[in-house]
Amino acid sequence: MSPASLLPILLLAASARLASAATAQVFEPPSKGPLVQTANYTSFSNSTLNDKKVVKGHAFNRIIHIWLENTDFATTASTPIFESLAEQGLLLTNYNGVTHPSEPNYLAATGGDFWGLHDDFMYHVPANISCVVDLLEDKGISWATYQENMPADEFYGFISDAPNYAAPSSAPYPYYVRKHNPLTIYDAVSQDAQRVKRIRTFNDFANDVVNGTLPQWNFVTPNMVNDAHDTTIDFAASFLEYWLLPLLSDPRVNSEETLIVLTFDEAETYTIQNNVWAVALGGAVPLKLRGTTDSTFYTHYSSLSTIQANWGLKSLGRQDTNATVSNVFSFVAEKTDYKNVHVTNPPNLNLTAIFPGPFNSGAYVPFSAPNLKAQGAGHGGVLTRSGLNPKLTAGSLPKPVNMTALDATSPWQMSPETTSGKKIIPCANAACA
Ligand SMILES: *[C@@H]1O[C@H](CO)[C@@H](O)[C@H](O)[C@H]1NC(C)=O
Ligand SMILES: *[C@@H]1O[C@H](CO)[C@@H](O)[C@H](O)[C@H]1NC(C)=O
Ligand SMILES: *[C@@H]1O[C@H](CO)[C@@H](O)[C@H](O)[C@H]1NC(C)=O
Ligand SMILES: *[C@@H]1O[C@H](CO)[C@@H](O)[C@H](O)[C@H]1NC(C)=O
Ligand SMILES: *[C@@H]1O[C@H](CO)[C@@H](O)[C@H](O)[C@H]1NC(C)=O
Ligand SMILES: *[C@@H]1O[C@H](CO)[C@@H](O)[C@H](O)[C@H]1NC(C)=O
Ligand SMILES: *[C@@H]1O[C@H](CO)[C@@H](O)[C@H](O)[C@H]1NC(C)=O
Repeated sequence: MSPASLLPILLLAASARLASAATAQVFEPPSKGPLVQTANYTSFSNSTLNDKKVVKGHAFNRIIHIWLENTDFATTASTPIFESLAEQGLLLTNYNGVTHPSEPNYLAATGGDFWGLHDDFMYHVPANISCVVDLLEDKGISWATYQENMPADEFYGFISDAPNYAAPSSAPYPYYVRKHNPLTIYDAVSQDAQRVKRIRTFNDFANDVVNGTLPQWNFVTPNMVNDAHDTTIDFAASFLEYWLLPLLSDPRVNSEETLIVLTFDEAETYTIQNNVWAVALGGAVPLKLRGTTDSTFYTHYSSLSTIQANWGLKSLGRQDTNATVSNVFSFVAEKTDYKNVHVTNPPNLNLTAIFPGPFNSGAYVPFSAPNLKAQGAGHGGVLTRSGLNPKLTAGSLPKPVNMTALDATSPWQMSPETTSGKKIIPCANAACA
């Protein structure tokens, strides 16, 4: 065929693509139910966790974080399923993301900082830097993350396409993204042969629940359509109707001691405060608080301070110990005698790209040690990992360097072409050495 006669075919293909892009996606259940494994998730579970021990907390024995994407508080608050969830739980009306875009928010909730990150590229945090997993394991508390459509356990890639289960005749869909899988970014987790087994798939979730081994700390990331990222809040509502509602009445997931925190990584609109809808659900929410609201100023750092207070954990010595941005969920603060601060003039949490850090090539500074004198909500001291140089404090850091101006990237950035494999492939740029 001559190039000229190909043209109409190409145009046709292009317009078909446009037409399908313009068609709103409609929710289809990936399986018969949240506890039934499905081929729509690429690989079946090969393992169950073996966590039988329960470490008692002051206000809950299990916490399940569920994160949806990019929606302003007001949009969520006026969507029916969310309205009814608010009636069953405690609505946190002043809960906030800490910056934009997505990835730094996921890092913040699990590490107490986002280290200057202001994009969604492929980074890794060195193994001497602590995260929530260190705090939990220090007290023998079991944990896992469950990533919908992650193609296999220990997957380290940037993105993963799978057959489009809602529209099988369409091209494979990029359901899984690494930027929403926080613990894989920490070398202390993903490069540890035992810990990495706890970064799990939704088929593993079904298997773990059915086998009675759902851990005490959980982080759940729905796929790119179910979390509203590529779709709408109504689409995410349909997903919750399919996935969360049945689990709320299943004692293997939600018992008297379970706290479920359903929230969003960040607001959609950058020009307003980063206020996201968040609800505390589950058997651990006191009856008298259900259907009420709490207007205390919380951020993603509160998810760290709240578990620290609940289980008497050590802290990370980062923003998880900054009283202004880490109020403990009030009903947990009450049970643990933690005094929250009344924040009358909250910081703007919608700012991005202005913070120096090891992940900001425009204002690069090395990773520093945490503040070892910080007082966390668990009163347990600051946890440090081996290989940490405690003398490299925030105050001792050199002035930020603009690596972008030197045509370099952060040494902690990796090639996004690393779409498979388990090991770090360092940044190829010579200046990163
Ligand atoms: C995959 O999802 C589609 C859409 O809901 C459904 O029709 C199909 O039965 C699912 N396949 C399996 C194996 O569950
Ligand atoms: C889960 O439990 C079932 C029933 O006890 C068992 O047959 C299965 O092997 C367990 N799964 C794994 C992966 O151990
Ligand atoms: C189970 O093992 C098979 C074979 O090694 C692998 O292809 C599959 O991805 C594994 N499943 C998970 C959830 O890792
Ligand atoms: C952040 O939100 C505040 C309102 O809280 C607004 O005044 C400000 O312009 C926003 N900043 C940016 C960079 O959009
Ligand atoms: C604590 O948080 C506030 C608000 O974001 C910020 O202004 C302050 O610098 C932080 N303090 C430390 C020690 O990081
Ligand atoms: C952490 O480890 C990295 C990699 O070995 C090293 O470059 C850095 O200086 C260390 N940082 C601290 C605070 O110890
Ligand atoms: C760093 O340098 C780049 C390229 O010269 C420039 O675009 C950027 O604004 C600089 N960043 C800062 C924080 O000055």
